[in-house]
Amino acid sequence: MCGIVGYFGKRNAAEILVDGLRRMEYRGYDSAGIACLHNRQIGVVKSPGKIKGLREKVDASNLVALHESTLGIGHTRWATHGPPNEVNAHPHLDASGHFAMVHNGIIENYKEIKAGLANQGIECVSDTDSEVLVQLIAYCYRDNLEKAVSQALKKVKGTYGIVVMTDKEPGKLVTARCGSPIVIGLGKEETIVASDASAILPHTRDAIYLEDFDMAVITADGMEMFDLQHAPINRETTTMDWDEGAAEKGDYAHFMLKEMFEQPDAIRNAIRGRLDFEMGTAILSGLDFSPRDAAQIGRVLVVGCGTSMHAGMVGEYAFEEMAGIPAEVEQAAEFRYRNPIVTPNDLVVAISQSGETADTLAAVREAKHKGAVVAGICNVVGSTIARETGRGVYLHAGPEIGVASTKAFTCQVSVMLMMALKVARTRRLPRHEGELLSRWIQRIPELVENVLAQNESIKAVAQKYARAEHAFFIGRGYLYPVALEGALKLKEISYIHAEGYHAAELKHGPIALLEETTPVVALLNNIPGKDKTLGNAEECKARKAPVIAVVSEGDEGVAEGFDDKIVVPDCPPCIAPIPTVVALQLLAYHIAAARGCEIDQPRNLAKSVTVE
Ligand code: F6R
Repeated sequence: MCGIVGYFGKRNAAEILVDGLRRMEYRGYDSAGIACLHNRQIGVVKSPGKIKGLREKVDASNLVALHESTLGIGHTRWATHGPPNEVNAHPHLDASGHFAMVHNGIIENYKEIKAGLANQGIECVSDTDSEVLVQLIAYCYRDNLEKAVSQALKKVKGTYGIVVMTDKEPGKLVTARCGSPIVIGLGKEETIVASDASAILPHTRDAIYLEDFDMAVITADGMEMFDLQHAPINRETTTMDWDEGAAEKGDYAHFMLKEMFEQPDAIRNAIRGRLDFEMGTAILSGLDFSPRDAAQIGRVLVVGCGTSMHAGMVGEYAFEEMAGIPAEVEQAAEFRYRNPIVTPNDLVVAISQSGETADTLAAVREAKHKGAVVAGICNVVGSTIARETGRGVYLHAGPEIGVASTKAFTCQVSVMLMMALKVARTRRLPRHEGELLSRWIQRIPELVENVLAQNESIKAVAQKYARAEHAFFIGRGYLYPVALEGALKLKEISYIHAEGYHAAELKHGPIALLEETTPVVALLNNIPGKDKTLGNAEECKARKAPVIAVVSEGDEGVAEGFDDKIVVPDCPPCIAPIPTVVALQLLAYHIAAARGCEIDQPRNLAKSVTVE
């Protein structure tokens, strides 16, 4: 979602801010802006649309502050309150023009605050919830910015990550967080504040992650941190281990394509050192379970959203099948609000690539509140969910920039399989079966390479269906979540209306929608239930829908009579989701490319959904 960047140092602030915003473009946004402070003057430039437009406006501007300043703030906005126009774009100024602020999150009581300000004669000019906060900070200001910020934040309900500056104290940036991430990069004679490590990586690896209700004051003398009561606090400096090049797309046309092709290495990183073939188990030190703890788990509850939830569904099947533990997966917002029954013997696993998804984070807090053991599966090191769960497993997939999640999904499934294996070995799974499974997990990168090698033939299939308006994906067992994920990939990047269904469910209603122009992707891999899905695919064909059959190597005959086929390696059912989803990712990618869609930043979507 929205991106924040702030700079204080010795270099040209505008350049660093615009570059930082460009690096966060992947998060999804629809307007952008920067404000720079120089000689007690604040210069602001905002622009609806892309960063390119903002950059042109900055270059053309004759505001001295923009060209001379070494202190400033910037923002990419993903519209929530009010359309994406120049007035609603950040940075927002207060009515006097002395204070500028960028904000991520949602101020839930903004109407109330706005009415209170109006009673004092302070009128807001934008439709946003954010503007009221800078007006409130200005209203609270006496002679110290951080005091005004903490006073204002105490009146706010909702979530925020903010950076504020004022021409009344020109050598200072104040930042604070509650529910929206803030990372502070500590460079040589410079400090970069951002909502996302990618804006900081080109400048420094040393960073501090703020916790909720932390504030930091950045001046030429360094940085001080406080809580909202103004008591000093300390946070550890961490070293960000992502390589800067990993966040560039290199020779690939899109980040999504690059990330699909990175999957073999990403999965290698996710499983490296984590398989014990001799004992037929997985070593996941971050889980911090003794075999005795694992033996006491009564139920596994997996929470997540979107693609991460689909990975959780594969995990649900694996936990039940291998470990014999009841497992359920639930959409994180539903888990949070329906007052779920959670017991101390439940293991709640929160899955989130970004580690910042608001609903998943709220589910983590609810589960902890109810006394469950909570573990996280996250990609972003130091993210809020990773920190709040305290125990868990990192994916080590490297930065995922494409809005459509690809390598995170295949790494999440690999990690879920290892988690299920580890728990299963403390229960009923015999050593030799554990060994067999760990050897299959070890082979996953090779299976993915096999599918990636078919890029051109999958592209040829994709081109045939690029003009479709609707599409269906069907599967069962371990491939049911893959049908859901395949449909999600297609709809989000190609804007084709795509639905994933359990193969058995189609004839309970959706089959009414089938016609000659509606392709059905049938997951007919060689796993239990294949023959039933085959029958369902025949039913589609009988309604004249073209069928793309995904089949296992050595079992190609299954595709006979269907319109197209994609062959994936034959492997055990719990492994099959990974090579199969890679085929569906490529299919979605090439369909979207043939339709000329903006693949890395699909309309309306944000990479990290930090609002409910
Ligand atoms: C789809 C996609 C989303 C995310 C979802 C959760 O391609 O990326 O559905 O999976 O927003 O995000 P994380 O995993 O960051 O919690």
